[in-house]
Amino acid sequence: MGFFSFARLGVALLTLLAARRVYWELTVGSQRRAFSTQHGCVPAHKKKTRLPFGLDMLLKDQKKFREYRVLEYIIEFFRDENAHTIDLRYVGQHIFVTDDPENIKTVLATDFGRWSIGVARIKWMGSFLGTGIFTSEGPVWKHSRETLRPCFERSQVSDISLLDKHTTRLIDSLSKDGSTVDLQPLIQDLTMDITSDFLFGISTDSLDKSKDDKHTKEFIKAFEYIMVPFDVENLGLWTVVEQLLPNRKLKKCTKILQDFADRIIDEEIAARKSSPSKPSRYVFLHELLDTVPDRIRIRSELLNIFLAGRDTTSALLSNVLWTLSRSPTIQSRLRREITSHIGDAVLPTFTQLKDMRYLKAIMNESQRLYPVVPSNTREALVDTTLPRGGGPDEQSPVFVPKGASITYHIVAMHRRVDVYGEDADVFEPARWMDGEHGSSPLRPGWGYLPFSGGPRVCIGQQFALTEAMFVVVRMLQTFPVLESRDSEPWTEKINITASNRNGCKVSLRMAE
Ligand code: HEM
Ligand SMILES: *[C@@H]1O[C@H](CO)[C@@H](O)[C@H](O)[C@H]1NC(C)=O
Ligand SMILES: *[C@@H]1O[C@H](CO)[C@@H](O)[C@H](O)[C@H]1NC(C)=O
Repeated sequence: MGFFSFARLGVALLTLLAARRVYWELTVGSQRRAFSTQHGCVPAHKKKTRLPFGLDMLLKDQKKFREYRVLEYIIEFFRDENAHTIDLRYVGQHIFVTDDPENIKTVLATDFGRWSIGVARIKWMGSFLGTGIFTSEGPVWKHSRETLRPCFERSQVSDISLLDKHTTRLIDSLSKDGSTVDLQPLIQDLTMDITSDFLFGISTDSLDKSKDDKHTKEFIKAFEYIMVPFDVENLGLWTVVEQLLPNRKLKKCTKILQDFADRIIDEEIAARKSSPSKPSRYVFLHELLDTVPDRIRIRSELLNIFLAGRDTTSALLSNVLWTLSRSPTIQSRLRREITSHIGDAVLPTFTQLKDMRYLKAIMNESQRLYPVVPSNTREALVDTTLPRGGGPDEQSPVFVPKGASITYHIVAMHRRVDVYGEDADVFEPARWMDGEHGSSPLRPGWGYLPFSGGPRVCIGQQFALTEAMFVVVRMLQTFPVLESRDSEPWTEKINITASNRNGCKVSLRMAE
């Protein structure tokens, strides 16, 4: 009896599900098929999985993560699948994975309005940084971007003295007797000090060991915690559970960040009241105070930019110095360029830095092989298409249903043999110098994207490059000897950005 009713319930349930499916097919399904046909879409290469929900891929990802080989695995993945756009079903999500410049260009530029940065970034990051340029989209983002752009443009006259002050502090703190130094943590301090000075007009001064300010120490700690509120290297089920529980530490850290920014903003407002004449030095906060009336918004924007600008630049700088220390030939060519453009005693100017082609080529090559933001993602806001990836030759458009996401792997695109040639895996700055490498000049277009592209292209690109180039030049001017003290290959460390987990161990000597 029980069995029969159970069976009947089952039948009823199945009928209901079938009916729902039929209904879906007749409505959404048929609309999507029509849309897909109308745009000439053909299915993309599908990743075959052995376990349901792509669980085998999840396990493999975790394994690679523990071996610090995720980036390597991503690069091999496209080579193994022999495809550039791949349709994946992964733990309940529908994801298109791509390293195709045309598809990336479509998502970031051509069809910009059809793609979202995703709720995770808006909700999660927004919860502690506040709503600002990095954590918003649509009209709110547009307004932010329009307000901030002129502030970045005015800063172009780049304040070399600000860079010099902090770089000199770094150089002074280094041991110069040839013993091993790990530059990476010091460079992190350096970019923190520079970014805070540039944005707030007050530096965290973490390189100044004579200073011991409670507020800045707290601020640095809180920021580091918030960036990575769990132990990235030991992710487990507990981490997932933990993220769902109310996190008091996260709340406390958020408050510390906000208080730090509020204090500086209030002091500045008070200072303006008592003496309305503007200081001559460029400070981002001062520019914002002139254009944005809302104090909370100013705070949010500053924290947003701080997040985007700090670890990225330090990872780039650390990578460049690491590579230079390991390649005596590249290093000596750069030294010759410095000598001929600037000399060894004087500070480089903004214009001189801009004109150093080989230095720029080194920056480009470092970001090509070790992109600081190696992968990124967007979500389809509506039913849409990608221009390529469909069919065996991947030349037809692909249908993307609303809600599906795209993960684009810059790191794999930067290794494409059809874009960079057979030696795509080799560090060779000369490939960026016309007429020196290969038969035709390298013009990768959307095939090279370290700072992203389209309307949300990195707004701090010029600032980051000037800062990194300045520090590299000052280091080489000061130290005739910069040698590697690390025999390991570059090994990934993935936080929010990707850096070398072995740091940047070098030996430095001053001129005799
Ligand atoms: C080597 C250093 C840097 C790299 C590789 C880098 C890379 C990027 C990338 C890839 C994006 C796009 C993210 C996305 O759309 O999902 C981005 C956005 C952004 N970057 Fe950078 N960045 C660097 C330095 C900086 C610096 C120094 C600042 C500020 C001082 C900065 C401020 C921003 C901001 C505010 C955004 C958001 C722009 C928007 O969404 O409209 N970045 N950056
Ligand atoms: C570096 O890459 C950029 C593209 O981001 C390109 O416009 C530029 O010409 C390259 N510069 C050099 C010197 O290689
Ligand atoms: C990575 O995250 C840790 C905190 O978990 C932080 O201390 C460290 O500075 C970060 N490293 C880089 C290179 O950003």
